[in-house]
Amino acid sequence: MKAFKLGNDFIFGTATSSTQIEGGDKNNTWYEWSKEGKIRDLSSPFTACDHWNRVEKDIGLLIELHVQSHRMSLEWSRIEPEPGQFSKDAIDHYRKEIKLLLKNNIEPLITLHHFSDPLWFKDMGGWMEAENIEFFTEYVEYVVKNIGDLVCQWVTINEPNVYSTLGYAIGIFPPGQRNIFKCFKVMRNLIKAHIKVYDLIHETREREGYQGKTIVGYALHIRIFDGLSFLGKKTAQCLDYIFHTLSIVGMTTGHLKFPLSEKGYINKRRTTDFIGVNFYTRNIVEFILCPSFYFYHLLNDKDLSKNDQGWDIYPEGIYRVCKKYYKKYELPIYITENGISDRYDNRRPKYIGNHLFQIKRAIDEGVDIQRYYHWSLMDNFEWIDGETGRFGLYHCNFQTQKRTPRKSAMLYAEICYYKEVTQKMIEEFSLE
Ligand code: NOJ
Repeated sequence: MKAFKLGNDFIFGTATSSTQIEGGDKNNTWYEWSKEGKIRDLSSPFTACDHWNRVEKDIGLLIELHVQSHRMSLEWSRIEPEPGQFSKDAIDHYRKEIKLLLKNNIEPLITLHHFSDPLWFKDMGGWMEAENIEFFTEYVEYVVKNIGDLVCQWVTINEPNVYSTLGYAIGIFPPGQRNIFKCFKVMRNLIKAHIKVYDLIHETREREGYQGKTIVGYALHIRIFDGLSFLGKKTAQCLDYIFHTLSIVGMTTGHLKFPLSEKGYINKRRTTDFIGVNFYTRNIVEFILCPSFYFYHLLNDKDLSKNDQGWDIYPEGIYRVCKKYYKKYELPIYITENGISDRYDNRRPKYIGNHLFQIKRAIDEGVDIQRYYHWSLMDNFEWIDGETGRFGLYHCNFQTQKRTPRKSAMLYAEICYYKEVTQKMIEEFSLE
């Protein structure tokens, strides 16, 4: 690898989510899921990083990293513990946290929904019921009214494609269902919710006279599906359509494609200000004659190195994804997440260097990639992998809550500061 520069306007940041770091909340679906024994190491988000009580210290870590922006989410179940009842304490807590970020010149990018729902929302049927979109919009309106003076930049919904497929088709996320039709219903409702709050956030900030340019987008999990054989290629195209195209088209243009289409629902226009890409890996896809596995099987590439969870490390994928969707929509791209579970940190420095290199390659070819958020600031509650998925630039000891910088944190701090990968970094961190 040769040294390269991302440019002075490029924004570097880190990303976290409330359920994964805050701890202390029992009113959400992921706490309940953990109590049902669904987390591989039997841990629970009730512990996590105790960030709720350590906000100041953790912002200290962001300062050490020299990030210009931080992506964090709000816990809906804390802000609205009962339907229609909003917690002033919770919103004040987030106001304080956001003010502290701003005081340190760290621009907040706020995610409104990141995988977890309040238990009361689930009990009402959750995202399966179209009428429930209204509850989400009421929550968003409350949030924007109450912190919209501090926050200009928003992510509406994180990875609606993962939420709907893992929760309703594969059944490993709550509520653990295996029904493709329910999955499509949920996907449709999430897209419609995004479109509603896209407008709502713009309108509310404008009506309240809040300063700063409002920017609203989504964050989608986008991977590469490659097939090798003829059937493998066809199966990969189907997966790509279901897992990516339906959500991207819906959330970017307001158009519900088959099988999400609904009689009378036409809303074609631009419904996002940026495309948020969460990129981690690629899969090789094979066709299998087995309906209970939805006719596909995902394979690794034996020539690629893996993260701790066995996911292939494929930096070129981030280039391919950005090229593809920029060509299609010509909208700014934010890399809203990219990272690796690597407990011993022996692959992360190179992972960061190689992915940034591919981002630079796309930028040089005219793709408007404006930001990169590393997932994650510190080890946290990695959903069904619990405390074993170690994605942090900082190691977190969940018993003592001590945070310790990994070597990658030093590298990332330098990259954020200089906005470049220098020859010295390449040698010092063995990025070659
Ligand atoms: C994407 C999700 O948004 C995030 O919550 C998760 O921890 C990372 N992927 C890593 O799996």
